[in-house]
Amino acid sequence: MSPLPENTLIGMCNPLLDIQTTVEKAFLDKWGLKENDAILCDDKHNDMFTELTRDFSVEYIPGGAAQNSLRVAQWILNSPNRTVFFGAVGKDQYGELLASKAKEAGVNVQYQINETVKTGTCAALINGTHRSLCAHLAAANTFTQDHLQKEENQKIIEQAKFFYVTGFFITVCPPAILQLASHSAEFNKTFTLNLSAPFISQFFFDKLSEILPFVDVLFGNEDEASAFAKANGWETTCVKEVAVKAAALPKKTTKPRLVVFTQGPDPVIVVEGDKVTEYPVTRLNKEEIVDTNGAGDAFVGGFLSQFIQGKGIEASVSCGCYAAQEIIKKHGCTVPSVCKYH
Ligand code: AP5
Ligand code: NA
Repeated sequence: MSPLPENTLIGMCNPLLDIQTTVEKAFLDKWGLKENDAILCDDKHNDMFTELTRDFSVEYIPGGAAQNSLRVAQWILNSPNRTVFFGAVGKDQYGELLASKAKEAGVNVQYQINETVKTGTCAALINGTHRSLCAHLAAANTFTQDHLQKEENQKIIEQAKFFYVTGFFITVCPPAILQLASHSAEFNKTFTLNLSAPFISQFFFDKLSEILPFVDVLFGNEDEASAFAKANGWETTCVKEVAVKAAALPKKTTKPRLVVFTQGPDPVIVVEGDKVTEYPVTRLNKEEIVDTNGAGDAFVGGFLSQFIQGKGIEASVSCGCYAAQEIIKKHGCTVPSVCKYH
């Protein structure tokens, strides 16, 4: 294997193909979905996917939270293979499509391929300005730590300097997360994690708590911050206060933890150690907003594209906001062909 570019970022998450369409509230009610949520589907949703692809005009868009972020980071970095992605797909058309879209964007995809289980999908159901996500992980759920033990992947991990894992992946393979996290701590690298969705703090808090001491940068939005506070038994829902408390939680290494919480059009809250900064967001006009699907993922992609180059926090937040706004102006987590960020 040729040496990786300097400061390579590894992402690990569920590679999913988004099945996006517009639905009525009645459809969400029928399948027990909230207007604005991200959940894992259960068996009762199998028929929902059948109904969607049979009766609706759907768009297939490459998704999966960290894969979205890496594609965005690559778009900004504009030089291939600065990022590597680990996750599991099936041996099928959807998996091939995801791989080709990621490679086209410059992401070095290293999928674990499951011969018998289908590639995961995520229903992205738009209802007015809301969107409800229902993920069917399928092959993504079968990722195993062995994949990281392979010689070629070990080499990638040794050379990488930054790691980005989503909270979503905690439902799949905590040992793989802990492997990257402890490696990062041992070699004084940077390990970053996203809270991803309220259900992670609600139902997977024990596993999340095992990973947190290794986390150098923690991302989330206001709903995730509030679910995280609740799971910790903190009385507050003030995003700023939650960020300060999250930054102060026990840590394995001496590097102060950075907490970055987005709040849609409201300021981005950043806590570094005990220093709180609010970065205002330039609001988009109503006419410019196509859908906010993927805004948070794009923010992380933009942020990390600068952060891994050693640019400061302000530049990283500013690029995060830039990337999020470009994505908001388009359907799904897709970017315009040319990146105008300097
Ligand atoms: P989704 O949850 O839609 O994506 P997201 O990136 O998290 O987008 P949100 O709309 O939730 O944004 P946010 O609330 O995080 O950010 P915020 O609004 O604060 O999910 C997308 C993907 O998740 C799908 O592709 C799917 O495949 C995947 N997924 C679902 N389940 C999964 C699973 N189990 N495993 C793996 N993947 C899974 O905004 C962030 C920034 O945007 C702000 O700071 C600001 O800069 C900017 N911004 C937002 N609103 C405005 C505005 N009005 N004007 C200007 N700027 C704005
Ligand atoms: Na999000």
